[in-house]
Amino acid sequence: CGDKIALTPTMGWNSWNCFGLEVSADKVKRAADALFKSGLADHGWSYINIDDSWQYNRDSKDHPQMRDEKGFIIPNSKFPDMKGLADYVHHNGLKMGIYSSPGPWTCGGCVGSYGYEKQDAESYNKWGIDYLKYDWCSYGGVIDGLPENDAFKVPSLAFQGGGDSEKGVKPFKVMGDLLRQQPRDIVYNLCQYGMGDVWKWGDKVDAQSWRTTNDITDTWASVKGIALAQDKTAPFAKPGNWNDADMLVVGEVGWGNPHKSRLKPDEQYLHISLWSIFSAPLLIGCDLEKLDDFTLNLLTNDEVIAVNQDVLGKQGMCLQTIGELRVYVKELEDAGKAVAFTNFGREKVKMNYKDFSKLGIAGKQTVRDLWRQKDISKLNTTNESLSLDIPAHGVAYYKFIQN
Ligand code: GLA
Repeated sequence: CGDKIALTPTMGWNSWNCFGLEVSADKVKRAADALFKSGLADHGWSYINIDDSWQYNRDSKDHPQMRDEKGFIIPNSKFPDMKGLADYVHHNGLKMGIYSSPGPWTCGGCVGSYGYEKQDAESYNKWGIDYLKYDWCSYGGVIDGLPENDAFKVPSLAFQGGGDSEKGVKPFKVMGDLLRQQPRDIVYNLCQYGMGDVWKWGDKVDAQSWRTTNDITDTWASVKGIALAQDKTAPFAKPGNWNDADMLVVGEVGWGNPHKSRLKPDEQYLHISLWSIFSAPLLIGCDLEKLDDFTLNLLTNDEVIAVNQDVLGKQGMCLQTIGELRVYVKELEDAGKAVAFTNFGREKVKMNYKDFSKLGIAGKQTVRDLWRQKDISKLNTTNESLSLDIPAHGVAYYKFIQN
């Protein structure tokens, strides 16, 4: 009791952006194997999270019962042995996550936890689950007193009645309390966005992370929109409590319809750099069996990961904007500062940068390029400038170390 978990942001993989509703135990096992074979596990990636659709769908015909007589959930036929699957994932030192919703149905129309929260928390413990992503869909219908089967049918109601209101917070508290009653450490992630300021109360319901924004897609507009929404959440991040900016859309994604990420290479560097400096949970969204060298390099740079995992647990913020250049700074435990010079514009940014005082940086500094893992300059930031040449939608991701 009182012990904190997720003292650094969670790192792992989630099935949603890759497989959508077409997830299976077999695909999850293969993802766990690929996390190892690719070498990702050696860089700190450890959670294998099953998203929606391990439960029966309300439209599926091939099930006798969705829950047993005592209300314990029966996973669908693609997940014949949840405990066996968790054992398989744990076997290599990885952890396994799962997904549910406080409403009667999840966002994908599968069985949610409403009315059976206790049984579900107990099942997660029994199976050996280490992480729960708890969504919102269909709980709006519960608040409105709709019959369970109708709660999902009226899409506009999915978001009604929730947010920061007492009624909206309640279901998350119910599950948070139940998870803490289990002997297992289960990281609790709230997937509640667009209705209020979850970052202001997520820690009160014992959550370790919470989604701040809508579902990510592999487009520049999506990454940009999510990135620009993070500053207001920054003061609420701390060890054990993180703002979740959603999955990483690099590699082969597609929600069941696979394709290479439509983000350009420079956009992918910017995406990973920002999620690193935001101290966001890092959850890979792509098919781990189809990693190309570029994607693997993006995900295995230990210096970029180290900024994300820094034990001080500060979230980097934008401290300066010059046109389309946004300069993000994150304080690090070793007194260094990570700085992401991000270019949100369509033209490259070429300049001699000298506003170091705006970033809280002064005196003699070594500038290290985190992506290239090498020192690129030693300069006196009080009177010297740093030359920047940043491609459109790209980034220069540096660490400043006081000499
Ligand atoms: C919501 C969430 C997604 C995913 C789907 C599953 O849209 O935001 O991340 O979990 O539900 O149906």
